[in-house]
Amino acid sequence: MSKLFSPVRVGAIGLSHRVVLAPLTRMRANLPGNVPGELMAAYYGQRASDGGLLITEAIFISATGNGGYGSPGIVTDAQVAGWRKIVDAVHAKGARIVLQLWHVGRQSHVELQPDGRAPVAPSAIQAEVRALLPSGPVTGSMPRAIELWEIPGLVGEYRSAAECARKAGFDGVEIHGANGYLIDQFLQDNSNQRTDAYGGSVENRVRFLLEVVEAVTSVWGSDRVGVRIGPSNRFGGMADSAPEVTFPYVAQALSRFGLAYLHVIEPRVTGNVSDDDQPPVAAGLLRPLFGGPVIAAGGFDATGADAILEKGDADLVAFGRHFLANPDLPERLRLSLPLNAYDRTTFYYGGDKGYADYPAYRA
Ligand SMILES: Cc1cc2nc3c(=O)[nH]c(=O)nc-3n(C[C@H](O)[C@H](O)[C@H](O)COP(=O)(O)O)c2cc1C
Repeated sequence: MSKLFSPVRVGAIGLSHRVVLAPLTRMRANLPGNVPGELMAAYYGQRASDGGLLITEAIFISATGNGGYGSPGIVTDAQVAGWRKIVDAVHAKGARIVLQLWHVGRQSHVELQPDGRAPVAPSAIQAEVRALLPSGPVTGSMPRAIELWEIPGLVGEYRSAAECARKAGFDGVEIHGANGYLIDQFLQDNSNQRTDAYGGSVENRVRFLLEVVEAVTSVWGSDRVGVRIGPSNRFGGMADSAPEVTFPYVAQALSRFGLAYLHVIEPRVTGNVSDDDQPPVAAGLLRPLFGGPVIAAGGFDATGADAILEKGDADLVAFGRHFLANPDLPERLRLSLPLNAYDRTTFYYGGDKGYADYPAYRA
């Protein structure tokens, strides 16, 4: 039988198969308040399978961390209560769910920021990035470089959000270090031109991530914390001058924490678009350096997933677009059933259509 359907552990979390729901921003939170509601509970509940792992969409950790008007947060009591219902729906089906902690940094817009202030970033470098407003996607606003004295407060926002995630009953958290958001902006050198202890050398650029990991593991314990990175990512205007140096260093630096997992977006995919012209910093290179379980994501189907598991380059595989369109994806892969096609026009915003109305194979 396919290795996809053999049991595995990620830290403290035991799973009976290796088909993971990738984090997928869908912009369906209730407004005002950015509170997850019934529709979101239905969507996540449909994708829960016995012994499976779901990773939530990116969830903002503070008011300055938000990059989209329909994104959910994990800050207020109402948001915690909304997530609690989703966690309960997922647990009722025997699945596990971890929350993706998200601060967008410069991928925001003054209209989304408290008092219309500039978004924060490691450096004041604007990029062709996308902020999602009610009027549609727009270029992010010019960010301001965060002051050195503000960094502990920013790390503290991750800590408080991690505490809220515990209150909501999640099984763990994933730190979003990919896709050109705040942590990635520190890691990659085209968005980080700081001259203090957080910029310059790779040791310095990784410092912010490691401080966030310290803070979040102090709340959860290392074995319930994962980190997602996108070494070959160009989404959000990202480029590192030497990803083949930066990201192996990141994997090695993370290895000392004994984390639940490292989640690696494979080189083929940038954000949500396939891309073939990327340097090969892939899961297989990073796995021995990290020394713990690795989840690979990006352009996988059943054959590709089997191949990477068999090769030993990853331990689990996360599926994004196929899982979005196939609520029963693990079963479909296990039985080689045909897949629903995904509808790109309903990826973001809206209601039930293209969200919780994709049919299961067996009603
Ligand atoms: C609609 C959509 C929303 C996404 N939102 C997120 C997100 O919130 N956090 C994240 O880390 N990646 C996000 N991604 C990237 C996916 O997690 C995944 O890496 C990407 O879709 C490639 O996997 P796939 O080929 O299986 O779809 C998103 C992708 C799509 C298509």
